[in-house]
Amino acid sequence: MKTLSKTIAAACMIMLSACSQTVTDSSCHGNEVIENIMSRRSIRKYKDGPVSRETMNTILECGINAPNGMNRQSWEVRVVDDPAIMDEIVSLMAAANNEVDPGMVKGCFRGAPTMIFIANDPSYDCSPIDCGLLSENIMLSGWSLGVGSVCLGSPIRFLNNAPEAIARLGFSEGYTPIICIGMGYPDEMPDAKPRDSGKVKFVE
Ligand SMILES: Cc1cc2nc3c(=O)[nH]c(=O)nc-3n(C[C@H](O)[C@H](O)[C@H](O)COP(=O)(O)O)c2cc1C
Repeated sequence: MKTLSKTIAAACMIMLSACSQTVTDSSCHGNEVIENIMSRRSIRKYKDGPVSRETMNTILECGINAPNGMNRQSWEVRVVDDPAIMDEIVSLMAAANNEVDPGMVKGCFRGAPTMIFIANDPSYDCSPIDCGLLSENIMLSGWSLGVGSVCLGSPIRFLNNAPEAIARLGFSEGYTPIICIGMGYPDEMPDAKPRDSGKVKFVE
């Protein structure tokens, strides 16, 4: 079963890379790192079932090997891959945000079967950067293994109003959730979103 889902994920990756963005420098074609970066898409439709713990451990190891300010590793990471625990977190968030439709709270997780919650240390000004780099390592290493992801800012607004949900996640005192990453095996192949290269200039 595990082998089958890995085969499907690999097939999915091949189809996904068929609709990759490409870099203009043809000497980079065939470079697996660049192809991995350029083919990644945010995934919002997943096959059933969480990512295996073995694969997640590899992905998380890649995450914590991201560059980070003074090697303070100013992040904490919590992974929820049990649907019952995820339901508990969503219920605590919905109860604390009772002005919002509960469906909206659940929906903001995009149905991803494995959810990563990342908290930053607000006493360190570079902590949001550390968490961003950690997140990118997680998403790109996941993609290289056939695991899709979506970076999620919207749950954070609900989560940071819900101290009981934060407590259930078990973050240390002083750490504040800053981003979530939904992960799972892709069940869609979105087109690349356009990028504005005009925002990047060499200073002459
Ligand atoms: C900080 C941040 C917050 C995001 N929040 C959400 C979100 O709440 N919901 C969602 O569906 N996508 C979210 N995204 C994903 C973006 O919409 C997506 O990365 C962007 O449209 C580019 O598409 P791509 O990732 O497929 O290249 C977020 C991405 C980032 C970096």
